[in-house]
Amino acid sequence: MAKEKNQRILFSSKEISERVNELGKEITRDYDGNDIVVISLLRGSFVFAADLVRSIEVPVNIDFMITSSYGHEEVSSGKVDIIADIRTSIEGKHVLIVDDIMDSGFTMSKVIEYVEKKKPESIKVCVMLDKPSRRKVEISPDYVGFKIPDVFIVGYGLDYGDYYRNTPYIFTFDD
Ligand code: IMP
Ligand code: MG
Repeated sequence: MAKEKNQRILFSSKEISERVNELGKEITRDYDGNDIVVISLLRGSFVFAADLVRSIEVPVNIDFMITSSYGHEEVSSGKVDIIADIRTSIEGKHVLIVDDIMDSGFTMSKVIEYVEKKKPESIKVCVMLDKPSRRKVEISPDYVGFKIPDVFIVGYGLDYGDYYRNTPYIFTFDD
């Protein structure tokens, strides 16, 4: 833990909540009254997902999936495991997968491949943060809070060494 390092705030909690509300409006408009199932990928997306679902105004079912993480700061390897599955039946349903950040894209492409087997009507992806310059597989989210450069992000659900997930703003460490 390097608590002594300087934090540089990238997005304040006000900026985050404004953007999340916009995303909620966009999603509400796009689904046009249809029910959706939100799948929140734990642990990183729990804060974002909690805010996002409260700004979505179509009927929402919420479920969670746990994917494996590898190390603290490293890029995820190509190997991603689903550690805990959803309990909701999604056959014929509109599914929105929510994650904190898309980096290499390995996690999301693995999750999509897995979720597709459950035969949903549609699958879309919403991430709070997107680092397109880091992509290792061809995938892009349908909804993005903020596009960011290749810096290590902490706060608003994202951890550094398992801490700071509860920080209400998004920051990076200046070193
Ligand atoms: P991907 O599989 O490389 O796209 O990585 C996605 C996962 O890696 C996210 O769900 C995060 O848990 C983690 N991750 C990627 N970049 C960061 C970061 O900058 N800070 C914290 N976690 C990150
Ligand atoms: Mg994660």
